[in-house]
Amino acid sequence: MRSLRDRFHETLLYRVLLARYGRNFALGVLALLWVDAIEVALPLLIREAVDGLVAGAAAARLGWIAAAYLALILLQAGGRYAWRMQLAGTSFRCDFRLRQGFVASLVRQGPDFYQRHPTGDLMSRATNDLSAVRFAVGPGVVIGMDAIVYFLVLPPILLWLSPSLTAVVVAPMVAVPFFVHRMRHLIAVRFRAVQAAFSALSGKVQESLAGIRVVKGFELAPAEVARFDALGRTYVAANVRHAVPNALFSPVLELTTFVSLFLLLLVGGGRVIAGSLTVGTVVAFQRYLSKLTWPMTAVGWSLSLFQRGATSLARVDEVVEAEPSIPAEGGETAASALPVVARGLGFTYPGATRPALEAVELRVEPGEMVAIVGPVGGGKSTLLACLARLHPVAPGQLAFGGLDATRWDPRALRRRLGVVPQEPFLFSRSIAENIAYGRPGADRAAVERAAEAAAVAEEIRRLPGGFDARLGERGVNLSGGQRQRITLARALLREPELLLLDDCLSAVDVETERRILETLRHQRRDRTLIFATHRLQAVVEADQIWVMRAGRIVERGRHEALLAAGGVYTRLWRRSEAEAAAGDGRREAARG
Ligand SMILES: Nc1ncnc2c1ncn2[C@@H]1O[C@H](COP(=O)(O)OP(=O)(O)OP(=O)(O)O)[C@@H](O)[C@H]1O
Ligand SMILES: [Mg+2]
Repeated sequence: MRSLRDRFHETLLYRVLLARYGRNFALGVLALLWVDAIEVALPLLIREAVDGLVAGAAAARLGWIAAAYLALILLQAGGRYAWRMQLAGTSFRCDFRLRQGFVASLVRQGPDFYQRHPTGDLMSRATNDLSAVRFAVGPGVVIGMDAIVYFLVLPPILLWLSPSLTAVVVAPMVAVPFFVHRMRHLIAVRFRAVQAAFSALSGKVQESLAGIRVVKGFELAPAEVARFDALGRTYVAANVRHAVPNALFSPVLELTTFVSLFLLLLVGGGRVIAGSLTVGTVVAFQRYLSKLTWPMTAVGWSLSLFQRGATSLARVDEVVEAEPSIPAEGGETAASALPVVARGLGFTYPGATRPALEAVELRVEPGEMVAIVGPVGGGKSTLLACLARLHPVAPGQLAFGGLDATRWDPRALRRRLGVVPQEPFLFSRSIAENIAYGRPGADRAAVERAAEAAAVAEEIRRLPGGFDARLGERGVNLSGGQRQRITLARALLREPELLLLDDCLSAVDVETERRILETLRHQRRDRTLIFATHRLQAVVEADQIWVMRAGRIVERGRHEALLAAGGVYTRLWRRSEAEAAAGDGRREAARG
């Protein structure tokens, strides 16, 4: 059973606001109370003035009342300034803290997280949901406080002015809380639908933009637009449904106030004529009544802001508190990441029915060059991702340098690895910055050496701007092969103990691929290299070749032995020879 205190500490208000900005919050609330207290006092001064006028009071007395009124208004203005500075500023700082936590979590997460949360979904949490939280702790708190103060203070004052008139005038408002409650529920439910529709819509936009080349290339634009239209319509429909309770809210509440005012004029006016009530009291009543509507709306409004804020905070929390499947840091380190040893290594993608890796046994000694080959979908990328510590593995299945992978400090381990993924990714910065990303602070000479080793330096120098050429989004102004080699240079710059290359030279010609692998092998004798490829010409020199099919290493050994064995490798080799010959034929033909 959790204590009340614990439960309070879990609330939106505490976690986002009070825990860190309690002092600013307290000052803000005090200023707000000050403003409200003055607001409540003003109608009483008006009552004095009106009754004084009716009774023909001395000008001096009216002058004093006016002066007091002015003084209160000035004090109130000061209070307004103070609460805005304290509360509004704080809500932006809270927002900033939450954003920090959000981003910190994003960089900790592994591929499984991004499979569960598509980019559009994360974007909508980072924009819509975070601003809903800010609205709750900013305006939500202010409006709510106002409402509570008025609710607590106004009824006693009204009762003091005239109990019987209060009973008559407030009667129509009794139904309001029920109405507000019902609407609030509807608004919350429908708001969730709006958020979900928005997520889907922004996900679609993101995906279409990311895949714009495919969309264009396949002439899919009309189909994409149609899909976008459908999602857009769902979003509009959800918004319209959400708008209905919102649209009913104010008019119904205003109607109640008008009924109350009608009763005030009818009953209160009658009493004034009969002489049992002063004009000033009726005027003050009218002022208070208009203030009573505000908290009625405000309670509902601030509650709905809170409800939205809490819903949104839960969605933000799912990201902020998501435990990465591989902890971001902490653990032991060994002197080296080598040798790499796997025993019965297995891995199944979340939600998949079949394992993508099964019973993989391997051993890689320092300085070895290992090639992974095999049909598409055989598990090459999955194995490399496990070796790069991107996918979680069970204890006892994988060890680096004699230390179990699960006991390694992931950061320390990854610092010893250079990973080049199958899909190259470049940032919209200069080429040199993209390469230096592998080792922040690296000097230009080191960057150029890495580019030389990746056999891309000459091409970079020929580009306008050379190494300082700025890349468009994701490097759109480069060829596929150039992008691949720049990502390779990025990994090489780290001078890792173990290089993991996932088919990252598929877009360069066989000769260049061979030359790069040759350089990598001979440049540093202690460099260990594991690379996946579809080009068997590139693996002839490898110390070990692993042939992967359906998640298992089905054959292994050196080229000659595998070729002699007459198994999967032999078949792959024959096909690849035939393809290479056809390629040569095409080149000959092209040369004419
Ligand atoms: N994110 C994922 N979720 C579920 N299954 C996946 C995921 N990624 C890959 N798989 C599956 O795991 C298996 C191995 O995929 P993997 O990408 O490792 O193959 P590969 O040998 O690298 O293929 P390729 O030669 O095309 O690069 C495939 O059956 C694939 O469908
Ligand atoms: Mg792959």
